[in-house]
Amino acid sequence: MEIIICKTKEEASRKAADLVAALLKAKPTAVLGLATGSTPVPMYQALAKDCAAGKISFKKAKSWNLDEYLGLPPTHDQSYRYFMDKNLFDHIDIDKKNTHVLNGLAKDWRKEVKSYEAAIKKAGGIDLQVLGIGSDGHIAFNEPGSSLTSRTRIVSLTPQTIKDNARFFKKAADVPKQALSMGVGSIMEAKRIVLLAFGANKADAVKGAVEGGVSQFCTASALQMHPDCWFFCDEAAASKLKLKKYYAWRAEEALKAELA
Ligand code: GLP
Repeated sequence: MEIIICKTKEEASRKAADLVAALLKAKPTAVLGLATGSTPVPMYQALAKDCAAGKISFKKAKSWNLDEYLGLPPTHDQSYRYFMDKNLFDHIDIDKKNTHVLNGLAKDWRKEVKSYEAAIKKAGGIDLQVLGIGSDGHIAFNEPGSSLTSRTRIVSLTPQTIKDNARFFKKAADVPKQALSMGVGSIMEAKRIVLLAFGANKADAVKGAVEGGVSQFCTASALQMHPDCWFFCDEAAASKLKLKKYYAWRAEEALKAELA
C-alpha cells in the first residue's frame, strides 16, 4: 500500500489522475473500474481536462462501474449511470457503448451480476480500479459485515450510508435501501487500485483501512492485502494515521518512480 498525503483534494486528485493517464498512455485499451460519490469528481475533472488537451484518449478504453442503486432508472439524476455520464463520460472521448454500469432495474439480479462479472473477465479484468471510501470504511457498497471474498451481488445499505448519501436526494426516505455492488473479492482482482479519501469525516475510515486489522467490519482494510494499491488522501482524511510521516516519505519516491 502506498499512502500519498496532499495538502488539498485538488492536488491529490491531480496525482491520482496522473496514474490513470500513465496507464492510458501505456495501454490505450485499458479496462478501468470506476467509482461514484463526490470524492472522485475532481479526479474526473482532471482527466477530462487532459483529454480535451489531447494528452490522453479514452477512445479504446472500456469501463465498468462498482455499483448501482436498486430500482433507479439510468435517467434518474441520482442513479450512478446518470452520475457517470454527467461527471465523466460526457466530457471525454470514450465510446459510451464501452462503459458499463450495473442495471438497477434488472428483473433477475442474479443473471445481471453474473453477466457483469463475465464481461469484465472477457475484457481481461480491470487494469485500474478507482475507489472512494464510505465513512464506515466501505468500498463500493460493501458495508461492514460483507465477506472479504464477496462477489458482485445484491446488498442492503446501512442506516449510516443512507444518512451519508441522503444529501444527494430530496429526503432520506428517497435513498434506495438496496443496491447491486461488486464484491470485495471482485474488487481485489483489479491489477491496480487507486483509492481517494478527502475530509475529516473519512479520517476514521482511512485509519481503519490502513492501520486497523484486516476485517469485514471495515471492508477497505482488505486492500492491505492487495499487491498494488495507492491511497490518495488530503491532510484531513489522513489526520488519524500513526505513521503518516513515514508513508509520505516512502510514497513520494514510489510515485516518482511510477511516473518516470
Ligand atoms: C457510496 C458509494 C461508494 C463511495 C461512497 C462515498 O456509498 N457506493 O463507492 O465511495 O458513497 O461517497 P462520497 O465520495 O460522496 O463520500
